[in-house]
Amino acid sequence: MWTKNDMPDQSGKKVMVTGANAGIGFETALAFYEKGAHVILAGRNLTALEQASGKIRSLKGNGSLEIAVVDLSSLEAIRQFASQFLSTHSSLDILINNAGVMIPPEWKTTDGYELQIGVNFLGHFLLTGYLYPLLAAQEGSRIVTVSSMAYLRGKIDFSNFRSENSYDAMREYCQSKLANILFSLELHRRISKANGNVLSVATQPGANKTELVRHMSEEDYNAALERFGELMEPWQGALPSLMAATWPGVKGGDFYSPDKDGGIRGYPVLFPLEPHALDKAVAKQLWEWAEHDTGFSYSF
Ligand SMILES: NC(=O)c1ccc[n+]([C@@H]2O[C@H](COP(=O)([O-])OP(=O)(O)OC[C@H]3O[C@@H](n4cnc5c(N)ncnc54)[C@H](OP(=O)(O)O)[C@@H]3O)[C@@H](O)[C@H]2O)c1
Repeated sequence: MWTKNDMPDQSGKKVMVTGANAGIGFETALAFYEKGAHVILAGRNLTALEQASGKIRSLKGNGSLEIAVVDLSSLEAIRQFASQFLSTHSSLDILINNAGVMIPPEWKTTDGYELQIGVNFLGHFLLTGYLYPLLAAQEGSRIVTVSSMAYLRGKIDFSNFRSENSYDAMREYCQSKLANILFSLELHRRISKANGNVLSVATQPGANKTELVRHMSEEDYNAALERFGELMEPWQGALPSLMAATWPGVKGGDFYSPDKDGGIRGYPVLFPLEPHALDKAVAKQLWEWAEHDTGFSYSF
């Protein structure tokens, strides 16, 4: 059973966690802080980030903290953030692509993409691309991308990323979480091809008590509780990310998930993926679409 106690000391490491002000991201950031890392709390809301930072500081730990305001629903905001970050930082060891939004009412990003594919996938695609040179320059660096077992029901519909045809909140969430895994694996393949050393790893946290359900009706939430049973606390949902980011046995292209009840709860293990998440042709097409639409190409 892998727990926070198995995390090696993180002194000297610089770690960025997106969506660090709440839920699983907060617990991920806290664990790195406790282990001595310099943790960059990334999110879109300065006040919420300052509150999270204050809370972490008041707890036990010998790390250090920094706040990074970046709204993943705007490609221009990501460009501006990255430009400023790259001019003030010369290293990054770990990037945790954790931020996410689930089943909002139909909504678009600043650039006109359906919110979930835009934030959960495309925003992280661009952010990771900008930060990649910093990660590539560090020995033993890792990129962890947080998905969900919702990926099982995901299907990539290239004709509907802007909700051109229709909007189904849960369908688009599942799509975005499949996109997270396809991205993580495609990134791993591209890094390997370029003989790079950065590990790209995907995770999913199981079912946890967080604010992710803010857009769910009470009726749907109760139905979900009935289906999933008791939810885990977010500290436990953070374990797959923490394991993927720090355990020495991790390999690029791995997927970590809680081990029980089909990934719904438990402690993190290397977990099998269903064939549609391993589809290299779809992953390549998604990557090329993201490159085209962001106008950004990774430098491997
Ligand atoms: N909770 C679960 O049971 C569960 C299950 C499977 C997968 N996951 C995944 O776990 C990850 C973390 O979710 P959580 O459960 O911790 O949810 P949460 O408590 O709602 O936290 C989500 C975080 O993402 C941030 N975020 C949302 N939109 C953003 C944007 N446009 N730009 C920057 N940051 C943004 C939120 O910031 P604000 O506070 O400003 O909104 C918040 O910090 C997500 O990727 C989710 O899909 C969660």
